[in-house]
Amino acid sequence: MQKLAQLYEGKAKRVYATEDPELLIVSYKDDATAFNGLKKGTITGKGVINNQMSNRLMARLAEAGVPNHFVRELNERETLVRRVQIVPLEVIVRNIAAGSFSKRYGVEEGVVFKAPTVEYSYKNDELGDPLLNTSHALALELATQEEIATIRSYALQVNEFLKAFWQECGVILVDFKLEFGRTSDGSIILADEISPDTCRLWDAKTHEKLDKDRFRRDLGGVEDAYQEIMRRLNAHN
Ligand code: TMP
Ligand code: ASP
Repeated sequence: MQKLAQLYEGKAKRVYATEDPELLIVSYKDDATAFNGLKKGTITGKGVINNQMSNRLMARLAEAGVPNHFVRELNERETLVRRVQIVPLEVIVRNIAAGSFSKRYGVEEGVVFKAPTVEYSYKNDELGDPLLNTSHALALELATQEEIATIRSYALQVNEFLKAFWQECGVILVDFKLEFGRTSDGSIILADEISPDTCRLWDAKTHEKLDKDRFRRDLGGVEDAYQEIMRRLNAHN
């Protein structure tokens, strides 16, 4: 499958058309940003790791009953995916307080919740991805009530799957962000990526951060953390 015109360039990926109108090629970059693009950098080898990790997890999620855009890995950085219209919601699931949750509600990082939380942000860089609730999403016509119910249910299913999967790798899944899309027939599927860019992943024993927080917070050892989390994934079976 050949790359045709570039359709879109995001902060971490480029998207290309293919000869099949239902299929796109995504190409993962080593570029890293944080705080809505204010902080910029490079994480060498990140594109390869995120591509391979996301594909492995998406393939397993499809088997577990969460339909998603993954079709086939083409090479280290490029993957064939189903074309979708992205629903402009960032869907965040949390198991443990961290990041913006800790800041907003004054809760120490590391407090474990009795049940996972689900929250939505309006995917809009100009507005800084503001937090919104379901009625706001409906008022803005970002998705229908039925679509939001489907998205929430898939997001919680993804959480149960990933939590168990990472636990088997000696890793705690703190929180993560998902994006969903509509296929040409109008069904909702999981899209975008699942990677250390979009998840908080802590070593189960030491609680060492093995994700993009090392970049966001200038903790050092960023490349090593991405390589270590990929090693854990590869050791999983
Ligand atoms: P937060 O605590 O900063 O709201 O982040 C929650 C989760 O979402 C965390 O795993 C990082 C991920 N995330 C993204 O993937 N993209 C983003 O733009 C932001 C702000 C967070
Ligand atoms: N990807 C986001 C940005 O550049 C932020 C993040 O992941 O923290 O704004």
